[in-house]
Amino acid sequence: MKLLFINGVNLNMTGIRERGVYGTQSLDQINAEIKAHFKGDECEFFQSNIEGEICTKIQTADCDGIILNAGAFTHYSYAIRDAISSVKIPVIEVHMSNVHAREEFRHQSVISAVCKGVIAGFGKNSYILAGESFKL
Ligand code: DQA
Repeated sequence: MKLLFINGVNLNMTGIRERGVYGTQSLDQINAEIKAHFKGDECEFFQSNIEGEICTKIQTADCDGIILNAGAFTHYSYAIRDAISSVKIPVIEVHMSNVHAREEFRHQSVISAVCKGVIAGFGKNSYILAGESFKL
């Protein structure tokens, strides 16, 4: 199975920013653990702080499932929402933190409705749970 893990804006700062919320590991370290977990599968990792690059990555994806942590783009990016709607590949929305237990603006997602499902609040394991769901 081919899985594409996309991380959006500020996720490159994981391990540096708000460590109490997002943990102390870097995104590269988390991705290495994900890769080890899915050792029988093909995993691709992509991160960008640029909204349009994430849209292009979704539009050109060649995989069985996309695991997307869009970061703050989740809460307002109609462009990413439309990119998800443009492709047949299922997308799962992921958050490391429980966005519903945080500030009000994080309770809204403009992408949830066009995603296959949403997983939030399990730290780095949110990515693994989302990837595993494609195998059910
Ligand atoms: C996040 C939650 C978002 O609200 C926030 O803007 C992020 C990370 C998470 O993984 O918990 O950058 O998507």
